[in-house]
Amino acid sequence: MSHFSSRLFLRPLAEADMPALFDICLRTADGGKDATALFSDARLPGFIWAAPYGQFEPDFAFILADGDKAVGYVIGAPDTGAFLDRLDAEWWPYVREELKTIAPSRPLDEMALARIHAPERTKGWLLKDYPAHLHINIVEEAQSSGWGRKMIEAELNALKSHGVAGVHLGVHPLNERAKGFYRHIGFEDLSRDGNVIFAMKLNG
Ligand SMILES: CC(C)(COP(=O)(O)OP(=O)(O)OC[C@H]1O[C@@H](n2cnc3c(N)ncnc32)[C@H](O)[C@@H]1OP(=O)(O)O)[C@@H](O)C(=O)NCCC(=O)NCCS
Repeated sequence: MSHFSSRLFLRPLAEADMPALFDICLRTADGGKDATALFSDARLPGFIWAAPYGQFEPDFAFILADGDKAVGYVIGAPDTGAFLDRLDAEWWPYVREELKTIAPSRPLDEMALARIHAPERTKGWLLKDYPAHLHINIVEEAQSSGWGRKMIEAELNALKSHGVAGVHLGVHPLNERAKGFYRHIGFEDLSRDGNVIFAMKLNG
């Protein structure tokens, strides 16, 4: 383990980490690479893939820290159906209001706005055996440090302690690195209909 990676540590999310969730999400939102140039509002990816987890599921959110700086996160929801219902009621109306004056001009604006205005529902077949889902994002300088594996373990332990039967996650089709990572650490590839999906049973 390098000197840099040995000084990193994992800790529970704190309220003060919300800006870091937005920032890390933006810096990894282009299939794992920096997407800063691709969104006209820097909060767009974080509104979808990071901040609501900090807001509504803080017990399943962990920060990879370098001193007082956040360099990665793993976040999740134990009951995806209930989480998405909550976003419909309490999150998307707020986000739409925040973005009501946005004029889409960058390459990924339209995709993000479509997800915010018509959020996707997870398929029933997936929720039955794998009701939880997670996201993991580490900034480039802290990747390949062995922390990705440890962060996934922390998230799986939190979900197992909560009695969750299984967990799934979606991967950008071009994110070959993440696909290799999930396969290597024991996730099953359940991809279908053009969606790249990995999953793992946790209890029983
Ligand atoms: C994907 C990501 C979470 C992986 O974390 P990481 O810290 O880089 O990975 P680690 O160093 O912990 O690797 C863990 C193990 O997986 C292996 N591994 C990593 N990437 C691999 C790949 N593409 N193929 C095969 N094995 C891989 C490592 O060799 C290591 O093996 P070992 O523990 O048996 O020695 C991280 O690179 C990342 O955040 N990328 C940007 C954001 C992103 O793409 N997130 C996923 C969105 S779905």
